[in-house]
Amino acid sequence: MSNTTRLRLGILGSGKGSNMTAIADAAAAGQIPAEVALVLSDVADAGILARAAKRGLPAQFIPPGKFRTKLDEEAERACIAALQAARVDLVVLAGFMRILKGEFLRAFPQRVINIHPSLLPSFPGLEAWRQALDYGVKFTGCTVHFVDQGIDTGAIIAQQTVPVLDTDTPESLHERIQQAERTLYPAAITLLAGGKISVRGRRAFTGAGD
Ligand code: GRF
Repeated sequence: MSNTTRLRLGILGSGKGSNMTAIADAAAAGQIPAEVALVLSDVADAGILARAAKRGLPAQFIPPGKFRTKLDEEAERACIAALQAARVDLVVLAGFMRILKGEFLRAFPQRVINIHPSLLPSFPGLEAWRQALDYGVKFTGCTVHFVDQGIDTGAIIAQQTVPVLDTDTPESLHERIQQAERTLYPAAITLLAGGKISVRGRRAFTGAGD
């Protein structure tokens, strides 16, 4: 991608869908060069599907199969097929609670991104806001990164800091991080649409600051 492209997004989530909503609303308002082509979830009654349907976006439940932490082969293939049929340029994970493996990542090389609620590499994994609070850091934040075979290990595209306050509970800190996510994720998609991203080793160069 050399100039700004209008990206067709496939958004995958298992939860309430606040990131999907922020991205879809920014796209509909013309604030980011993207459109939501498809929303997929592994949870039949997930808020993300209801919120997508309310916005008139194509939304589909993919039965995940027998595993707890990943999709089974059939489900993974169904996901790939649905995303390809929707001609998706970029796969956006937004609270998708299953690990995506080789076949999925090979189908969308360097085209799968995730948002994580901490400043990676600190606090990968579950409930990163609680990990940050328990550790006692004064700043945490959120990270948008490419997805690789590891857990929260791919090259970092964008980060936003969030202060930790003396009065914070896990819930209040999580809410403040999620507010930051709703700005950071659309901004990162805009960077990707600009086509200036290149990855060398662990570093993603985004053209920010050019
Ligand atoms: C976000 O906080 C994100 O950091 C994490 O999962 C959460 C999803 O929330 N990966 P939502 O479904 O977008 O509201």
